Amino acid sequence: MLAVSEACERNKAPILAVLAGELAASRAVLEIGSGTGQHAVHFASHLTHLSWQPSEVRAQLPPLIERLQCEAPPNVRAAIALDVHDDPWAARDLDAVFSANTLHIMAWSAVREFFRGCGALLRAGGVLCVYGPVRYRGEYTSASNAQFDQWLKDRDPQSGIRDFEALDALACAQGLKLRADHPMPANNQTLVWHRPA
Ligand SMILES: C[S@@+](CC[C@H](N)C(=O)[O-])C[C@H]1O[C@@H](n2cnc3c(N)ncnc32)[C@H](O)[C@@H]1O
Repeated sequence: MLAVSEACERNKAPILAVLAGELAASRAVLEIGSGTGQHAVHFASHLTHLSWQPSEVRAQLPPLIERLQCEAPPNVRAAIALDVHDDPWAARDLDAVFSANTLHIMAWSAVREFFRGCGALLRAGGVLCVYGPVRYRGEYTSASNAQFDQWLKDRDPQSGIRDFEALDALACAQGLKLRADHPMPANNQTLVWHRPA
């Protein structure tokens, strides 16, 4: 039986609506932390102009590969092992990066590596889309996000909801400029940076 994320089922339609606009001029997308593969299958099925490159840390690859073998449309590439700490990332010929619900899971040192890797990968015109909860000036966008953050930190003190300003500073240091901040259902955001042409 395929692994299923209920959150993915809920958020895949609103994320697709954002990606359809933000990735309209993109050609090939690297997804970091593809999880169950539900997003890869859904987005690639609808955004047929894209070549979709799913990835996961090696230990989490088997359930991803299983779903892709069953459901992936032809524009999904074979999943690759990718940890954001890898240097360089084993991903080639891509002009966009997408990641959902990863930056609050990985340690801050890994978040820095995430932006370092995106900076190395994305050439002029490249796009980075990140979906998930964030704080603004240290403030949560909802009481439920504050509770979620506490739950994350009780589970792993290195994880936690990130500050938008800190993420944007990492992106800026890589030459990426914020293009959009889309409010999403359930107190999430889709943040979009790009490398100006
Ligand atoms: C909450 S899951 C999100 C999965 C999927 N993107 C989704 O939205 O359902 C967090 C993901 O981050 C990935 N992850 C954690 N640390 C990572 C790292 N250092 N490099 C790459 N991915 C990582 C995990 O393997 C996991 O798939």
